[in-house]
Amino acid sequence: MQFFLDSANVAEIQAAWEGGLIAGVTTNPSLVAKEGKDFHGLLKVIAGIVDGPISAEVLDTTAEGMTIEARLLARLSPNIVIKLPVTADGLRVARTLAAETPPIRTNVTLVFTPMQALLAARAGASYVSPFVGRLDDIGQDGLGLVDDICRVFERHSLSCQVIAASIRHPVHALKAALLGAHFATLPYAVLRQLLRHPLTDAGIEKFMADWRAAGRHTENA
Ligand code: E4P
Repeated sequence: MQFFLDSANVAEIQAAWEGGLIAGVTTNPSLVAKEGKDFHGLLKVIAGIVDGPISAEVLDTTAEGMTIEARLLARLSPNIVIKLPVTADGLRVARTLAAETPPIRTNVTLVFTPMQALLAARAGASYVSPFVGRLDDIGQDGLGLVDDICRVFERHSLSCQVIAASIRHPVHALKAALLGAHFATLPYAVLRQLLRHPLTDAGIEKFMADWRAAGRHTENA
């Protein structure tokens, strides 16, 4: 499993990318709205930082409108992946974009059932995004959804990749990896949480203290 950053914040994206933590970025209209910047301009800045897939979501709900938006977004950078809702119109557009030359990659989002995911894969989606946390929020099993989708895709040899989305804490990320999700997209705070352990910090401090106690100094001091 690889990590994406679920953010439209340039400082976070730069830190996560330069820190070697992520393979790409996912955005959504809520995340972009929070930044208060021009959408296309912001995507160009992100594409200047990240050499990996950058999901950008369409706002229109009709197939015609989504197709126009998608083509404009795709022109911004070859790294742009078009995020489409899992609706009849959304899947129609996924099919159209997959058939273009060269194909435009799509991330079908707001997936809450395995059959929505299977339909998206059959329509030609490159990725599907099951929303783990939002299902948990209504008392359903978000990770169970990831498990079902991974098993269906494997059973039927589908190349569509699974992005575990709406991840709220490190256990969600761990379980998604164990279940075989190809990617997990995480908010920056959760990504940072994955890296930290109090025993790691304590271990570094003890090694340094022992070194100093022996009267040693670091080579570059
Ligand atoms: C996925 O691509 C979405 O942007 C995201 O993971 C949604 O997460 P949320 O439920 O925390 O808003």
